[in-house]
Amino acid sequence: MKGTVSIQGSKNTVLPIIAATLLANGVSVIYNCPHIEDVKVMCKLLECLNVKTTLTNHVLTIDTSNARYACLPEELTCKLRSSVLLLGSMLAKWEKARLGMPGGCAIGMRPIDIHIDGFKAMNVNVDCDEGVLCCASSGLSGCDYTLRYPSVGATENLLIAASGIESVTVLRGVAKEPEVIELCKYLTSMGACIEGIGTDVLIIKGCALLKSVTYTNVYDRIVAGTYLLLATAMNSEVRLTGINDISYLKNVILVCIKLGACIIKINDSIRIASDGFVKAGDFSTGIYPDFPTDLQPVLAAVLMRASGESVITETVFENRFSIAKELSKLDADITVDKNKMIINGKKEIQGHTVKATDLRQGAALVVAGVMARGYTTITDISFIERGYEDIVGDVASLGVDIAYV
Ligand code: UD1
Repeated sequence: MKGTVSIQGSKNTVLPIIAATLLANGVSVIYNCPHIEDVKVMCKLLECLNVKTTLTNHVLTIDTSNARYACLPEELTCKLRSSVLLLGSMLAKWEKARLGMPGGCAIGMRPIDIHIDGFKAMNVNVDCDEGVLCCASSGLSGCDYTLRYPSVGATENLLIAASGIESVTVLRGVAKEPEVIELCKYLTSMGACIEGIGTDVLIIKGCALLKSVTYTNVYDRIVAGTYLLLATAMNSEVRLTGINDISYLKNVILVCIKLGACIIKINDSIRIASDGFVKAGDFSTGIYPDFPTDLQPVLAAVLMRASGESVITETVFENRFSIAKELSKLDADITVDKNKMIINGKKEIQGHTVKATDLRQGAALVVAGVMARGYTTITDISFIERGYEDIVGDVASLGVDIAYV
């Protein structure tokens, strides 16, 4: 495998930022926005609130000048997890919100209790009526709230709401993922005052009149990580461009090196070389800066051909092992025991028909298909299109025989 891939803009960074644009009245512009299904659905949700959106050539323009309160229908909210982030901006703007339950990948129970408890602490009444979230407040107020777990989504939701009200909010035990840091920077540029960015405690002095701003999205660290792991598994020489802040990828790079790859950074690109011989080992997912849970299925695929027994311990989601069943169809030796996946590496993996059941598991099947002998057919690829702009084009540009059928 040889070639260069330009890494798309980050999905998980842009989605909360799209939700946050609602806090301003005017035109916000986001550069380097990926053309992916989740962004399109998020824009449709904003359009329900009479917000105008256009996405052309990776520039997303959002005009909230005529935003009007409305309920958000479940047929849209159920399509992605980040729909729940509109709760924060709608509550700050209108002191009420009514929306269907959020969806997203089926990788565990994915409750929203931390979001809800946080909003309750901000003086919001929350009811759930036949799958519809009904929230209202007689006036949102700042609070001092400790998250029982550093949930990325809950941190983002509460951060957005706190930034849009004239009050001081202290959030303790927050997530420190790069996506949270980018959201903090964005809200700060809109006019909110946020202290403690990148630490466990955020002190937010909000403002009811935030301004519309322009933002350039960062690269997608999970897409970059997918291609780094793919290159590690193959005999390859690959360059990834658009990597403006390599620190967001540190743990993935360390894992690729542990697996046997050689990696160097040149300006805003990464060069990776591998002989395709993968070393077995023990790995664990964790909250940032540990190895991201989103790349756990991809790592599992890479370990199918490692030099012995490997173990991956999943610590973030309680049921994120759908990859095991599909990789077994490729003749991989893989078992699941509680929160661990045990993978016995084999010399040969055989192509087969497999089914994508969530976004990252689907991407892992692409990696597995490249590694396997013969052809692999992946069905239900709409899951992959939720987050990867052009995985087929990217992988084909590295010399792989891959196509839509
Ligand atoms: C985000 C990412 C997702 C990534 C995950 C962890 C987006 C759109 N998605 O998801 O790709 O895998 O972070 O890095 O950015 N939890 C609760 N109660 C809550 C909220 C979460 O118990 O109210 C639990 C979850 O069930 C899970 C853990 O906390 O076990 C982590 O979830 P969270 O950090 O909230 O992930 P998301 O924001 O959903």
